[in-house]
Amino acid sequence: MMYSSLLSSLTGLVLASPFFSLNDPTAQLFERSQLLSSKCTTTTNVQSCHNTTVQTNLCCFEAPGGLLLQTQFWDTNPSTGPSNSWTIHGLWPDHCDTTFSENCDSSRDYTGIGTLLTNNGASDTLAFMNQFWVDINGANEQFWEHEWATHGTCMSTLEPSCLPSGSVKGAEAVAFFQTVVKLFQTLPTYTFLSNAGITPSSTKTFTLSQLTSALKAQSGFTPSLDCTSGALNQISWYFNLKGSIIDGTFVPIDAPETGSCPSTGIKYPLKTGTPPYMQAPGALPTKATIHASTGVGGLLSAGTWSTQTLATYTISGTTSSFTMTSSKGNCGVSGTTFSCGSGVSLTTFSAVASGSNLLLASGGSTAFSSDGTPSGSTVFTVFTGSSHSNDYTLTIVSS
Ligand SMILES: *[C@@H]1O[C@H](CO)[C@@H](O)[C@H](O)[C@H]1NC(C)=O
Repeated sequence: MMYSSLLSSLTGLVLASPFFSLNDPTAQLFERSQLLSSKCTTTTNVQSCHNTTVQTNLCCFEAPGGLLLQTQFWDTNPSTGPSNSWTIHGLWPDHCDTTFSENCDSSRDYTGIGTLLTNNGASDTLAFMNQFWVDINGANEQFWEHEWATHGTCMSTLEPSCLPSGSVKGAEAVAFFQTVVKLFQTLPTYTFLSNAGITPSSTKTFTLSQLTSALKAQSGFTPSLDCTSGALNQISWYFNLKGSIIDGTFVPIDAPETGSCPSTGIKYPLKTGTPPYMQAPGALPTKATIHASTGVGGLLSAGTWSTQTLATYTISGTTSSFTMTSSKGNCGVSGTTFSCGSGVSLTTFSAVASGSNLLLASGGSTAFSSDGTPSGSTVFTVFTGSSHSNDYTLTIVSS
């Protein structure tokens, strides 16, 4: 096996066999401090799915989900993320026999993941997620909430009772997102393939054994590959874990199952598809939610900024001039205050394409600001322009 380079600055999360490449786009910054520590001692940690006796402390032994999959997408149409990187799907705790549990604790289905990360010192993780953990329809916050609720709540080592006393509500979800990001950064699938001379192409096809042997030669381990219509779409890198998801050691293993790709004729398409929101230039969704650019919440029906469930806005007009209503009534700007309600006069807005986002603009400007960042039941008035302390843009997401 051959490692491009060893990442020595990776703190907290430890890989038994780290693989990493420094010219990879995911190799940004990452010197994150450990915000939480488990109370597990790494020297005595038994490897998940390899115990020969019943383990009783499931805060330090991941069970029943001891077979962990770090899944990544290659989304080309719409295309998401950088053209030279796969993107994060999630981290899934399969049982040792590859069956799995999902949605294990609805009382911990957190909303406002962006706010939770910002408020808990993990804004570097959030910034990375905004680039590399992106939803195919642009609804990143909902995607993160889904990944946490569906998979994160099933991890035994992230049970709230396993956290140090005094941990804030949601601290275990912060640890989950930090760990997934750090693990993903050690798995540069695009670079592994390109180092082996396999790059996206509109004409070439590959055999499954070409792809898996290239990935094994680069990383030391065989992942599983899923295809959609004969084209690569997803990869799963498999691990067992010694200790806790929070700060344990991920031990890479060969995939115990094969994915859905055929054995020959596999396409690896270029990311040439139009990103979300720009698929019909000039066209606007007629029903949309409006999200803050920071990944923190969006607009409620009264037009305030919140991390609660976002309102659906009805949009009529074209990108250069449209009006909006919510269940509360007309939406408009009075002075610099944006609001929606029965006494509000409609004002016109426009939409501006920015990368893969369609941004809301008032008076031609996409700048909005508030006096704080919402969390829990605290909401903030939205003002046009950036004269208030917290600046952001607002993304229109079709719903
Ligand atoms: C390993 O530990 C888990 C969790 O306690 C338990 O369910 C399983 O039966 C153990 N396996 C063996 C072979 O003892």
